[in-house]
Amino acid sequence: MSIPAHVAIIMDGNGRWAAQRGWARIKGHKEGVKAAEELLDAASDMGIKHISLFAFSTENWKRPAAEVATLMSLLRLYLRIFLPQLRSRQIRFHHLGSLAGMPVGIQRDIKTLEAETKANEGMVFHLAVNYGSRLELAQAARRCVEDGLKPEEVTESALAARLWTAGVPDVDLLIRTSGEMRISNFLLWQSAYAEFYITDCLWPDFRTPQLQQALDEYSRRERRFGGL
Ligand code: IPE
Ligand code: IPE
Ligand code: MG
Repeated sequence: MSIPAHVAIIMDGNGRWAAQRGWARIKGHKEGVKAAEELLDAASDMGIKHISLFAFSTENWKRPAAEVATLMSLLRLYLRIFLPQLRSRQIRFHHLGSLAGMPVGIQRDIKTLEAETKANEGMVFHLAVNYGSRLELAQAARRCVEDGLKPEEVTESALAARLWTAGVPDVDLLIRTSGEMRISNFLLWQSAYAEFYITDCLWPDFRTPQLQQALDEYSRRERRFGGL
């Protein structure tokens, strides 16, 4: 069975999961964190080298202030408690997204977690927070200009080297939970030839067996990359 080197997941459906139970949306987000914790262990056991989890988009700031505040405090809590898990699995933490505009405490926690796990040699866990693909691409273009590149030097590899994912292999498998058939500004460049797997399962219910099912489906796909 071929194992995807890079699995990216759009973790969607926390609010609906809670609503189905008559609960506040926050309960869905809390349960969603548990799913993420479980999947990190599962993915590292399965031999996945890179996992990217989309937790908060550049567009999610449009949500009501109370929900944004709740998500930020949950994130803060999570960034602090899961260091032992990363240590025990030798997982390296990496942030995808813009630090600018995020609460300073979170910026500091992200930097600390990256620094404390940087020598870890296991799976790399990319957490996308305040991430938007269009912002990432625009920043990469701006950096080409700042670096003084000549027009003919602005190549695919020059741009790729200036994305937050510089050095990370392209996405092999892109999973979206909760059934929405869209990419919502996540890893547009990196998913050019990703296999898509969309499931109706809501994020808090997406656990080890569901990830295994996605990997089984992936191994049955025939990837052609435009060739024959
Ligand atoms: C995903 O769940 C988590 C974030 C986008 C922060 P949602 O909050 O989008 O849940 P639904 O889509 O409303 O069910
Ligand atoms: C995508 O989910 C972003 C994250 C999972 C962080 P959304 O719930 O924000 O996406 P849309 O608005 O349904 O496209
Ligand atoms: Mg959603």
